[in-house]
Amino acid sequence: MIKIKNISAQETYKIRLAVLRKNIDLPHKFQGDEDNNTFHLGAFNKGKQVGIASFMKNSFGDFEGSQYQLRGMATLPEVRGMGAGKMLIEEAKRILKTQGVEALWCNARKEAVGFYKNVGFQTIGEDFEVEKVGPHYKMYYLVR
Ligand SMILES: CC(C)(COP(=O)(O)OP(=O)(O)OC[C@H]1O[C@@H](n2cnc3c(N)ncnc32)[C@H](O)[C@@H]1OP(=O)(O)O)[C@@H](O)C(=O)NCCC(=O)NCCS
Repeated sequence: MIKIKNISAQETYKIRLAVLRKNIDLPHKFQGDEDNNTFHLGAFNKGKQVGIASFMKNSFGDFEGSQYQLRGMATLPEVRGMGAGKMLIEEAKRILKTQGVEALWCNARKEAVGFYKNVGFQTIGEDFEVEKVGPHYKMYYLVR
């Protein structure tokens, strides 16, 4: 059974490196990782860490009120499709709602857009290129 827990920034690094930085020469530590408003969630399957997601107070302008950015979302290939990704997002929605946050947004890799749509996000605007990673869409979810 998959469980979601709060984890530290340090505890996200192994899966960030293995999944999000595989063959991609970009930093795996993000600005804001250690900020007071930032929180990190981990998914655990039978005690083994299998997923990560980080949530940082950050605005991109198109919404009123408080906004959070989702960064570093990944699950290990061995658990994909088992619901770990969805559980990470659902737990974040619950936490953000209690904090009165209006919107959660992310820069979604094109191949992950279907996942984000599945968990309630919508795309906004045109696709754009992130150097060394590929095409992305801005996506958002209204928390309230
Ligand atoms: C995107 C990712 C986090 C999804 O994690 P996951 O653990 O497979 O997600 P879940 O099992 O919770 O999937 C939830 C639902 O979305 C669907 N889904 C998952 N990935 C999908 C995708 N890429 N496209 C379309 N649908 C997808 C699942 O089938 C599932 O559907 P269901 O509710 O009908 O059963 C994972 O595939 C991943 O780590 N990919 C590589 C890294 C990456 O691209 N991260 C995002 C960077 S922006």
